Amino acid sequence: MNDSRKAPSTLEVALGSRSYPIHIGPGLLGDPRWLAPHLAGRQVMVVTNETVAPRYLARLRQGLGDDLDVRELVLPDGEATKTLASVERIWDTLLAAGFNRRCTLIALGGGVIGDMVGFAAACYQRGVAFVQVPTTLLAQVDSSVGGKTGVNHPRGKNMIGAFWQPRAVLVDTDTLATLPARELSAGLAEVIKYGLIRDADFLAWLEAQMDALRGLDAAALTRAIECSCALKAEIVAEDETEQGVRALLNLGHTFGHAIEAHQGYGHWLHGEAVGTGMLMAAELSRRLGWLSDAEVARTRAIIEAAGLPLAAPADMSVDDFLAIMRLDKKNLDSRLRLILLHTLGEACIHDATPTETLAALIEAFPRR
Ligand code: NAD
Ligand code: GLY
Repeated sequence: MNDSRKAPSTLEVALGSRSYPIHIGPGLLGDPRWLAPHLAGRQVMVVTNETVAPRYLARLRQGLGDDLDVRELVLPDGEATKTLASVERIWDTLLAAGFNRRCTLIALGGGVIGDMVGFAAACYQRGVAFVQVPTTLLAQVDSSVGGKTGVNHPRGKNMIGAFWQPRAVLVDTDTLATLPARELSAGLAEVIKYGLIRDADFLAWLEAQMDALRGLDAAALTRAIECSCALKAEIVAEDETEQGVRALLNLGHTFGHAIEAHQGYGHWLHGEAVGTGMLMAAELSRRLGWLSDAEVARTRAIIEAAGLPLAAPADMSVDDFLAIMRLDKKNLDSRLRLILLHTLGEACIHDATPTETLAALIEAFPRR
């Protein structure tokens, strides 16, 4: 990774007495100044997975400092392990270690680890402290911020969960050096999302910087992470539990979750499904008369430039999509709620899409 060793920056998620910092920069993992202040007491459990542990667990332990009772739990890798059974393993390990309500859980890994550890923390002894140490781009720009925690259910993605905010988020940008290119692209989907829903200038900057971002240019990635986290922090501070504006962060997710659930968790990466889902949402917005052909073409171009798929799975019928989309958590009563685009940089919540318009869009959308 091209490295300018920029000094770390700090943003705040403003939630009153539950406000917390997001520290972003290189070299944070092994430096006790960043992690130690956020521990609730001496008992610390680091939860990670078998891919991340050999790369970053030792470095994180250096950053914890001395005089702590530190335990480690290394779970199997993958979206398919984002289950209640894995969370039970975390609870079992905490109980076996005699951890009390002043313990702190540290989530070291991508969004799968972050979501599970946050949920384990939310429920253990009715709620204990946790710190997010995200190591994928997707987790650094999205899942580690905002307190959505949980696991998948065979009938729906993230169907079991809780809102539970971390004490801090530590984004060590050095960790991106080992991230596979496909995972980097998946993270870029969520970065593009912020531009599409809320910030046309950021979207234009991303279009210009896509090669630098995919080439792991440190300055470009740091700026993308900072802008994404700032936009997310602003939205979460406004609407922590998704009563309104926070739903906009789900652009592309209703289509994307349907793809993930239908294909079996882990076959499509979450970010890949969101990338294709955002293009489906853009196409539907055009059919509803909001986006122009040129705006849809721009959306397709940036998703393609990020290395994300532009077509839905060949074996998914319109009925497959609709059946899973009807289970989406955003739906109220029996109405399907979708996040669509009025223009690039401005999203809206829409619950009046005629079923035939939606079905026609899905039918016509390319397959691969
Ligand atoms: P992930 O956690 O599965 O990580 C992707 C892969 O990268 C895994 O194999 C992981 O072991 C590996 N990895 C992690 N860090 C690495 C590193 N530095 N170097 C090399 N390999 C590394 O997936 P993800 O994309 O990070 O997160 C997806 C999950 O996040 C989904 O379950 C999704 O539902 C959830 N999510 C949650 C929120 C939220 O608000 N809570 C938002 C978006 C997504
Ligand atoms: N990733 C969507 C949200 O945090 O609300």
